[in-house]
Amino acid sequence: AAMSTLLVNQQRYAWLRELGLQEENPGVYNGRWGGRGQVVTTYCPANNEPIASVRQASLEDYEETVKKAKEAWKVWADIPAPKRGEIVRQIGDALRQKIKALGSLVSLEMGKIFVEGVGEVQEYVDVCDYAVGLSRMIGGPILPSERPGHALIEQWNPVGLVGIITAFNFPVAVYGWNSAIAMICGNACLWKGAPTTSLVSVAVTKIIAKVLEDNKVPGAICSLVCGGADIGTAMARDERMDLLSFTGSTKVGKQVALMVQERFGRSLLELGGNNAIIVFEDADLNLVIPSALFAAVGTAGQRCTTARRLFLHESIHDEVVAKLAKAYAQVRIGDPWDSDTLYGPLHTKEAVKMFLDAVEQAKQQGGSVVYGGKVINRPGNYVEPTIVTGLPHNAPIVHTETFAPILYVLKFKEEEEVFAWNNEVKQGLSSSIFTKDLGRIFRWLGPKGSDCGIVNVNIPTSGAEIGGAFGGEKHTGGGRESGSDSWKLYMRRSTCTINYSKDLPLAQGIKFQ
Ligand code: UN1
Repeated sequence: AAMSTLLVNQQRYAWLRELGLQEENPGVYNGRWGGRGQVVTTYCPANNEPIASVRQASLEDYEETVKKAKEAWKVWADIPAPKRGEIVRQIGDALRQKIKALGSLVSLEMGKIFVEGVGEVQEYVDVCDYAVGLSRMIGGPILPSERPGHALIEQWNPVGLVGIITAFNFPVAVYGWNSAIAMICGNACLWKGAPTTSLVSVAVTKIIAKVLEDNKVPGAICSLVCGGADIGTAMARDERMDLLSFTGSTKVGKQVALMVQERFGRSLLELGGNNAIIVFEDADLNLVIPSALFAAVGTAGQRCTTARRLFLHESIHDEVVAKLAKAYAQVRIGDPWDSDTLYGPLHTKEAVKMFLDAVEQAKQQGGSVVYGGKVINRPGNYVEPTIVTGLPHNAPIVHTETFAPILYVLKFKEEEEVFAWNNEVKQGLSSSIFTKDLGRIFRWLGPKGSDCGIVNVNIPTSGAEIGGAFGGEKHTGGGRESGSDSWKLYMRRSTCTINYSKDLPLAQGIKFQ
């Protein structure tokens, strides 16, 4: 792209300079900025105009950065956890100061609406606060030993270097959940974001780098290697990557998991979802309509927590479909950064093709498009938010995660069958029911209820808080990030038995004499 046409050079986008971005940006940080790989230009999904470019990491850059991150770890691991927490607190504060500009960049480069862009920076801010608290709380118990004069202690240590590969759809928040927690645990981080959101990766790392450098700790604690599949593969195969956290598609996640497993490494996977909302006959429809709208149409259907299946009790099916179609018609479509807009573009042109292909398949498999289904005639990657009815619960397309705003509305009669249908897909990320029946709520949470990692009642499938553990089962990968005790995945546990007596009693009462 010619320099003069880049958005970064236009007056309207002068705020990009506030984030330290230029025409061409180095995409490697390891205490120093650099990069000797390919130059990748990123495009605004709302008009497909070039924003600016990033020089990616070559394999030599990668090699050098891993070495520096390993060196940096030696310093970081010796810093007491609450002091590491203090630095994470400062990162949270620095993000607060740039929240509007960074949220705008997310909106410009990823394509989600401004409030959602700001929202995911807020997730990072929140998880920083959470991590600061954790930095004074993590640790193991002292367990009762069966032997006199012995102590049985659980000690937690950082794993070392945490590789973090993130997806285009949450280019800030997912890195935030991983890095804030990994950092207070005493790990160094090495990040590879999605190539199509490279500017976000650079802007976030600039904010962090300043905090690290101001605190006179090695910048390589939070290293960045912008790159594509070559860098991702290098990370997956690399024995020095003590934990590899991967967020992305089930297809690529499986390849990553196998490469990591082959070296007996550790992976943390956040893969696809095929999330359902189930609406029972007693549901409060005043909650259902806005919930389904947010979960299915929000972020143009590009969250891993997006609702893709809507199960409606047969007695309310037609009423809900009519109300929902009415709500869809009121969704304000526009430039994602415009404060009035609720719905923006898909991230790429390929995603538009995938959308059209899925709509076609839905029709072929017996579905009726009752709303949307078409590409919107305007610049950028816009498609209509879409509702499809009439498909069987097990139609192949219903069991496929298409990362686009297509909602399959399905009819059911009974609780037992619909709970089974919720669970019959390969993925197991998020799920919601709408009901007032207390017994049903607890059956939903119980062993024969939802088999997902996120199990909700009377709220949408998307929009989880950072305080809980985030992730899902089955083909979603089984990982848990962010809150609760997810920190344990970023540490290794040592069971320590200490004899402080003058005797040597053996466990299980064994006499070896
Ligand atoms: C994702 O789509 O990868 O629960 C993450 C949510 C957000 C995170 C989604 N807090 O929808």
